[in-house]
Amino acid sequence: MHQLAVFGNPITHARSPEIHQLFAKQHGIEIDYERILVPPGEFTRYAHRYLEGGAKGFNITVPYKADAYHFAEQCSKAAALAEAVNTVSIKQGVIYGDNTDGAGLMKDIVDNLGWTLQDKKVLVLGAGGAVSGVVSNLLGGAPRTVEILNRTVSKAVAIVEKQNDPRLRAIETPGDAYDVIINGTSVALQGTTLDLPASIITAESCCYDMSYGNGAFLGWCENLGVSQLADGLGMLVEQAALGFNIWFDLEVETIDVIAALRQ
Ligand code: ATR
Repeated sequence: MHQLAVFGNPITHARSPEIHQLFAKQHGIEIDYERILVPPGEFTRYAHRYLEGGAKGFNITVPYKADAYHFAEQCSKAAALAEAVNTVSIKQGVIYGDNTDGAGLMKDIVDNLGWTLQDKKVLVLGAGGAVSGVVSNLLGGAPRTVEILNRTVSKAVAIVEKQNDPRLRAIETPGDAYDVIINGTSVALQGTTLDLPASIITAESCCYDMSYGNGAFLGWCENLGVSQLADGLGMLVEQAALGFNIWFDLEVETIDVIAALRQ
C-alpha cells in the first residue's frame, strides 16, 4: 500500500484523493491517499513527519505551495520558475519538488479542448500563486502576446520581470478582443465577480477558468456569446496525472476521469 496525501488548508473539498484512486485503479495499484489539514505555520513539521512515516510523496494545495518549494531539497525547472511546488516525491533519497500545474493546464487546453495558443492574443486575469505557476507554460504554447491584468499591478509586474520574455507584459487596462482569456484570480472563492469590460471578449474567444465549482466568470463570458468555455477540472486532473507519473512512472487515461468527476 503506497502512502500519499494532499496538504492544504482548507482541505475538505480537495478532489485529489478521488482522482488518484481512479488512476491507481487503472493500474491495479493500491494507494492510501489522504487529505491532511495543515494548521498555519506547521507545513514543514507536518511534511517531514509524513515522509518519515514512509510515504511515497504528497501533493500540496493552497496555501502551502511556496512552503513546499522551500521544503524540497531539489526541484524541477518548472517549480523553480514558479517558486512553488505542487508535487513532492523522493528521488534517490532526495526530497524532490515539482510543479505540474502549468503543464496540466496546457495539456487540458491543447489536448483535451483542442484550443491553441499559437500566435494568439492571451489575457490572464490575476497575478497570485496560481498564475505565476503557469505563465512559463503559457509562453511555451507560442502565443503572440500574454498580458497579465491584476488588481494589484505590482504583482503582475513582478511575474513579468521574473519571466523576462518580450511577449509577456503587465497591463493596467485591458485591450480589446482577446483570443484566449484565462481567469487565475481567486474571486470565485469569495463569491464575488470581476469588473471587466465586455470589449475584451468576442464570440470566438476561448475562456478558461482555472478554478472550478463556481461558474461566475464563465457565466459572464457565456452571456456575452462565448461558446468555448472551460473550467479548471481538466487542469486539476491533468496536473494529477503528471504527478502520478512522477510517483509511479506510469501513464494514465484522463478523459474518463474528468467525466467521472464532473458527474
Ligand atoms: P492563488 O494562489 O489562488 O493564486 P493568491 O496568491 O491569493 O491565490 O492570488 C489571488 C489572485 O486573485 C490575486 O491575483 C488577487 O488580486 P490581488 O493580487 O490584487 O490581491 C486576485 N483577487 C482576489 N480577489 C479579488 C477581487 N475581489 N478582485 C480582483 N482580484 C482579486
